[in-house]
Amino acid sequence: MKEYWVKDLSLANFGRKRIEWARNLMPVLSKILEDFRKEKPLKGLRIGACLHITAETAVLAEALIEGGAEVSLCASNPLSTQDDVAAALAESGVGVYAFRGQGVEEYYRCIGYVLASSPNITIDDGADLISTIHKFWYGVESKELAYVRDVLGGLSIQDLVRGIIGGCEETTTGVIRLRAMAGEGKLLYPVVAVNDADSKRLFDNPIGTGQSALDGVMRATGMLLAGRNAVVVGFGNVGSGIAHRLRGMGARVTVVEVDPIKALRAVMDGFNVEPMRKAATHGELFITATGNINVIRRIHFEAMKDGVVLANAGHFDVEINKRDLEELCVRKERVAPYIDMYVMRDGRRLYLLGEGRLVNLVCAEGHPYDVMDMSFSLQALSAKYLAENRRKLPNQVLDVPKDIDHLVAKLKLESMGIELEELTEEQKNYFLKWEFGSE
Ligand SMILES: NC(=O)c1ccc[n+]([C@@H]2O[C@H](COP(=O)([O-])OP(=O)(O)OC[C@H]3O[C@@H](n4cnc5c(N)ncnc54)[C@H](O)[C@@H]3O)[C@@H](O)[C@H]2O)c1
Repeated sequence: MKEYWVKDLSLANFGRKRIEWARNLMPVLSKILEDFRKEKPLKGLRIGACLHITAETAVLAEALIEGGAEVSLCASNPLSTQDDVAAALAESGVGVYAFRGQGVEEYYRCIGYVLASSPNITIDDGADLISTIHKFWYGVESKELAYVRDVLGGLSIQDLVRGIIGGCEETTTGVIRLRAMAGEGKLLYPVVAVNDADSKRLFDNPIGTGQSALDGVMRATGMLLAGRNAVVVGFGNVGSGIAHRLRGMGARVTVVEVDPIKALRAVMDGFNVEPMRKAATHGELFITATGNINVIRRIHFEAMKDGVVLANAGHFDVEINKRDLEELCVRKERVAPYIDMYVMRDGRRLYLLGEGRLVNLVCAEGHPYDVMDMSFSLQALSAKYLAENRRKLPNQVLDVPKDIDHLVAKLKLESMGIELEELTEEQKNYFLKWEFGSE
């Protein structure tokens, strides 16, 4: 088996510097790393992770290794790997199988290499690792699985699954896939839904993606956001953050939603709310953040103005229907590193950023380190939780325990030098008594 598969080992020096910089901005994870160094809560465990291979992920890997684990990594997106970081990880002995610009075969072979390490804990961002295991177990044949099998060597799926004590999932789309598996009674081991922890979904999704998605759009296009008609599709955790930040930059923002509560929230936050068929006619910049499929498709492309820019911040590249774009266009041309121009029959030009994949990771460098500090602290502590409770947890999608969730928020506040108010004994008691009322 390959020890690593990266683009270019000579990039390692720059990657190491980038990781060092990330560490500076990740005080909570750095503290956990120090604790792990002393306690070794993951001693003897192998961890296989399918995450965006970025500097923050490298700091997480360091923490897990300090905790006593052996770590193997592959990318959770073919276009998001920072090759210098991957090189630095490989050079320091981590089994890393990732490079920017992977084809489907390479992407799944890399997943295969991580599985070949026979992990005891899986960590996912989007559930590709765990769903591969489940497809294998339940005999769901596919071309992708054949690539995985090819690199697994003699390891049987029975032995692989027998060795796994649990998993962690980073993002909304992954949690949705896991709940679907659990709903069918098919989940083979317990998985902690890190995404759903308050100290993740209320910060990483809106604030991290809010900033980094705009960073991606601006880096790729160089466009001015002020005064631009922007359309955000989906006003959940991610979309609401993007919409608010777009407005902060002076854009005129329209929101498209299917959920009446989220739509009402958007209206009362002062946004224009419309169905996609209307927004398509006047938008100039579209950003999708639904976790759903084909939310912008043929009828919408047909109604769009010349020169619109299309970007996706949802997990998979299925929110903007690329097949419809291909069918509608008479010509497609790459006009800048991450911009594809589709020329329609009537001469209108539609510009797609980052091949419709996560715009913040493909066209920029993903979330700010400070936000990943919280998400990856939750990952590290959830791995510890799985290790401490091995073979005791049900094969379900589990919440991050509240004490871990609160600890991460508390440590983050401490790192910022912010003090919390504390409840007095009288106040604690007041919350416990139903007899109190108006006097
Ligand atoms: N880019 C990143 O770095 C990043 C970070 C976190 C999450 N994500 C991904 O972003 C996506 C959204 O995550 P979230 O946490 O905001 O989920 P969420 O469930 O909070 O929000 C999704 C919203 O989209 C709406 N929606 C669904 N279908 C729609 C449609 N056809 N038209 C309009 N609205 C529709 C839903 O009603 C919901 O309000 C997921 O794929 C998630 O994995 C990406």
